[in-house]
Amino acid sequence: MAKSLVIVTGGCGYIGSHTLIDLLNRDFDVVSIDNFCRSRPYALQGIETITGTRIVNHSVDLCDRMAVKEVFSRYAHAIGVIHFAAFKSVPESIGHPSMYYHNNLVSLINVLESVQAHSIRHFVFSSSCSVYGDINRLPVTEETTLSRANSAYAYTKVVGERITEEMTRSAGINAVVLRYFNPVGAHLSGILGELPLQRPDNLVPLITQTAAGRVAQLTVFGGDLPTRDGSCVRDYVHVMDVARAHSMALRYMMQREGVHEIINLGMGIGVSVLETIQAFEKVSGHTLNYRVGLPREGDVVEIYSDPSKARKLLGWEAEYSIYTMMSTAWKWQLFLEQNKID
Ligand code: WQD
Repeated sequence: MAKSLVIVTGGCGYIGSHTLIDLLNRDFDVVSIDNFCRSRPYALQGIETITGTRIVNHSVDLCDRMAVKEVFSRYAHAIGVIHFAAFKSVPESIGHPSMYYHNNLVSLINVLESVQAHSIRHFVFSSSCSVYGDINRLPVTEETTLSRANSAYAYTKVVGERITEEMTRSAGINAVVLRYFNPVGAHLSGILGELPLQRPDNLVPLITQTAAGRVAQLTVFGGDLPTRDGSCVRDYVHVMDVARAHSMALRYMMQREGVHEIINLGMGIGVSVLETIQAFEKVSGHTLNYRVGLPREGDVVEIYSDPSKARKLLGWEAEYSIYTMMSTAWKWQLFLEQNKID
């Protein structure tokens, strides 16, 4: 029997590449659309080494409506689309809001128009816990009322969720919105992980780059915030756990009609920046060089999830601990150093 084909946009990105592996492991057929504006072709090599499968990737600008129509016309038989492709840096979006609104929303609309045109049955939208904004009642559930988004990035996810809902429901297409908390870590093999093109903004790659000597000193943004140790609290979740949830969301939709769900993906455990550093030091044996500085504009002080809906609906729950997140992130950084991958 022919395998079910899934189109993955942003397939060479961090979560996209790990999701391609999980899809292949669950006997889906896959194709990637990624123009490497925020990713690298190395990801395809890593996936092939891990799975033995060569990934077909189309380097298409998803903001180019005609190019999207053309590439989707080749895969009209796909059963599903997972849409990862988007810019994702909170600080960058604060400095360049229009770039974020244009890139993240025009690409989404182009993809959804093609999903509609070919009546592709199932759509997964990559969203983020940043849609919640500053929430004072924790943990957050999917029913928690959103407060004001703290950045253009976050707002593109708020609007993106609404666009997804309206453009799938009107076309009788199933949709699951996955709100990632903080995906971190790397593939257990140590040969695939986060591959930032320039200096990362995210905490965990900055921790490993500081330990590797690529960054002189890490700055902890905020040391006397209203949290248990004064530093920001987040809900870190292993990227392989997040990847697995995408395959499970597709399977869930493939057995049903009229699916329109929003699902949190997190551990349900709040971990502070200082605790994250301590976990890294414990697994790596490194004493990290860091200082405590001022809070970062746009940062939420504390957020973590109630992931019970993912467990009830998909049968999903995160398996990897903060220690595995840190040890795999470090193993990947060592691989980058040994192979002189910048
Ligand atoms: C985590 C914590 C920082 C860098 C964003 C998006 C989210 C997701 C991940 C896409 C914060 C602190 C960071 C540093 C620090 N994006 N920090 N020093 O901002 O929570 O989440 O990226 O999937 O949707 O909202 O992630 O890793 O940037 O920050 O102290 O040098 O680490 O203040 O508290 P963030 P992050």
